[in-house]
Amino acid sequence: MEQGISFDLDLIRRYDQSGPRYTSYPTAVEFDESFDAAAYRAACERSNHSGRPLSLYFHIPFCDTVCFYCACNKIATKDRSLAPPYLERVYKELALQSELVDKSRVVEQLHWGGGTPTFLSHAQLTELMDATRRHFNLAGDDVGEYSIEIDPREADAAGVALLRRLGFNRMSLGVQDFDPRVQQAVNRIQTEAETMAVLEAARSEGFRSISIDLIYGLPFQTPESFARTLERIIAVDPERLSVFNYAHLPERFKPQRRINEADLPAPEAKLDILQSTIERLTEAGYVYIGMDHFARPDDELARAQQAGTLYRNFQGYSTHADCDLIGIGVTSIGKIDNTYGQNRRGLEEYYADLDAGRLPVFRGIELTRDDLIRRDMITRLICHFELDIPSAEAAWDIRFDEYFADALMKLRDMAGDGLLEVDAQKIRILPRGRLLVRNICMAFDAYLATKTGPIGFSKVI
Ligand SMILES: C[S@@+](CC[C@H](N)C(=O)[O-])C[C@H]1O[C@@H](n2cnc3c(N)ncnc32)[C@H](O)[C@@H]1O
Ligand code: SF4
Repeated sequence: MEQGISFDLDLIRRYDQSGPRYTSYPTAVEFDESFDAAAYRAACERSNHSGRPLSLYFHIPFCDTVCFYCACNKIATKDRSLAPPYLERVYKELALQSELVDKSRVVEQLHWGGGTPTFLSHAQLTELMDATRRHFNLAGDDVGEYSIEIDPREADAAGVALLRRLGFNRMSLGVQDFDPRVQQAVNRIQTEAETMAVLEAARSEGFRSISIDLIYGLPFQTPESFARTLERIIAVDPERLSVFNYAHLPERFKPQRRINEADLPAPEAKLDILQSTIERLTEAGYVYIGMDHFARPDDELARAQQAGTLYRNFQGYSTHADCDLIGIGVTSIGKIDNTYGQNRRGLEEYYADLDAGRLPVFRGIELTRDDLIRRDMITRLICHFELDIPSAEAAWDIRFDEYFADALMKLRDMAGDGLLEVDAQKIRILPRGRLLVRNICMAFDAYLATKTGPIGFSKVI
């Protein structure tokens, strides 16, 4: 596949409307409460017949302090005594969930996210992994993808060594920006030394892939200031980088109200930051994977993209395509057979369900055949920037030009603008369309057509 990405300011301005990130299709907006624990159980039964491998996601919602930009599902608290009652319910959920799946099924992917998983003490981290191993059959280190999100302010070399012993082989580090003024404005004071100490420890413990999270569009950032952060990150050569766009939606995310809008960089400055970031990362040898993600060419994400085996789910990009995903913890989303199911979003409700011996799944969706077909098309485009039409027709027994007549119409204008090429064999997203891949995917989204007005998704820029 032709690599690369080209930055066309005019096109980005013209096409950049808010849209989903397609970690799921249909998106969570379509989930409803008619999908309940009973529907979830039935999906688990069907999925056992498939024997597919499993992926486990654990959500640890707590953070010691709140970063003002944060859009994650988290609970900011200094009260570490909240962890044991939470874990007690997670263990109950582990027991209930594991009863629903055949013991022979292997867990090939495990991810702890948050909030901040390293909010937990060493003993709690150990206990959680031990409990997981008691209930599930985890693949060996050579096959399994075991990853954890780490806040470097909440970790040290001993903690990193422990995580490796527990089985983790990948991590992502929240950095965002090294500039002290930016850090102050977003209430995330984190020295470069703290970050580098964790990164070095991860290297010496043999973590296979280290990813760094940065955000552009934060208060007081300028192209020059962000370039300084980027240089320091490039110097330590992480395998992967996520460069997220800060979406300022203070009506939706309360902590963002503490960010002074006048301090935010103007849209032109944000575009400048994005452009120079892409250029610098490309020059430094990174490959654009898509949707804010970059990887070194020898990293397995980049290799999987080259080989056509890359996949995307709630945990982001992955090399494990066909897993059923079990989401554990408050707010977690699972993907089982042809369904998505989400756990309760409030701690009290989550605890109440588990204390009563009930699965905490409270809403979700059962995908129709049309949903499954469209999800497949969106996944192919997001992961590979191309869609092989004969293979899609064979996979779903459809005539592509008939089934997707509407989508093809929408793509025609984009093709005229050089975002993509379409012929009888392939849809191919060109380098200048790659930053706008989600806008291209929106052509295949049957739910957007029925919506009017703002839909609460973020933009590329
Ligand atoms: C759950 S946090 C990572 C773990 C840990 N809590 C930390 O912050 O280091 C996930 C990542 O989401 C990104 N993020 C959070 N809120 C964001 C926002 N409003 N816009 C863009 N990225 C955001 C940050 O880069 C953050 O590192
Ligand atoms: S960015 Fe991470 S540490 Fe900061 S509030 Fe969000 S989840 Fe917590």
